[in-house]
Amino acid sequence: MTDSPVGDRGHQPSIFLANSCLFMSLAPWRSPLARALHRNRSRAESRYPQLATVRPDGRPANRTVVFRDFWADTNCLLFVTDARSDKLHHIAQHSGAALCWYFTQTREQFRLSGELRALTADNKKAAEIQVRYDLWHRLSDNARQQFAWPSPGQPRVATSYEPTDLSESAPLDTFAILVFDPDTVDHLALKGTPQNRWQYHRQSDRSWQMLEVNP
Ligand SMILES: Cc1cc2nc3c(=O)[nH]c(=O)nc-3n(C[C@H](O)[C@H](O)[C@H](O)COP(=O)(O)O)c2cc1C
Repeated sequence: MTDSPVGDRGHQPSIFLANSCLFMSLAPWRSPLARALHRNRSRAESRYPQLATVRPDGRPANRTVVFRDFWADTNCLLFVTDARSDKLHHIAQHSGAALCWYFTQTREQFRLSGELRALTADNKKAAEIQVRYDLWHRLSDNARQQFAWPSPGQPRVATSYEPTDLSESAPLDTFAILVFDPDTVDHLALKGTPQNRWQYHRQSDRSWQMLEVNP
C-alpha cells in the first residue's frame, strides 16, 4: 500500500463529529509535525510512520503505514488499510495504538499515542462515508487493486491476480480507513547540543499542555 499519499486537504469534509475526532482547534504539536512533513517532503519515507497496535494476547504488533492526511479541522490522522487485516482485529479488542515517525532530513522523531478506530462500509454517518470515498478516489488504480486481492495473511494459493477495473468503482468492502486520535505526543529533535524534547498531553477538557523535558 505504498501509493503516494496526498497531503492537501482539498476534498475533505469540513465537519466530523463522530466519536472522539471532534471539530476543534488544532493541537500545538500540529505545527512542528506539519513543519517536519514539509521540510522532509523530498524523502518518500517521511510519509511512512510505524503504527503499533495491541494483539489480543497483550503483545505489541507493529507495521509501516502511509500517512494519508489529517481529518480536516481535527487532530486525527488518517491511514488506509484492508478491512481483513490483523490490525482491525486488534483494535476491535483494544483501541490503544502508537505511532513512531522519524524524519531523516531534519532528524526529528515524533511518537504519538492514543486511540485508533476503523471506518468501514458499516459506518453510515455522512462524514464517515465521505472521507472513505475521498481517500478511495485519491488512490491510484494500482493501489485500489490490492483491495480486490485475496485476504491478507492467508496462505497463498494464486501467484497472480487478474486486474479488475476499479476506476469508477465505489470503495470495495475490503477498504477501510484508520482514524488515529492522539492524546500524547513526544517530539525529539536530535539536531543541537543539547538535543531538544517536548511532550504534549491532552487534558480532560481536551486542551493540550506542552512541557519541555530533558532529551
Ligand atoms: C512502505 C510501506 C507502506 C505501507 N503502507 C501501508 C498502509 O498504508 N496501510 C496498510 O494497511 N499497510 C501498509 N503497509 C503494509 C503493512 O506494513 C503490513 O504489512 C500490513 O498492513 C499487514 O499488517 P497487519 O497484519 O499487522 O494488519 C505498508 C508497508 C510498507 C513497507
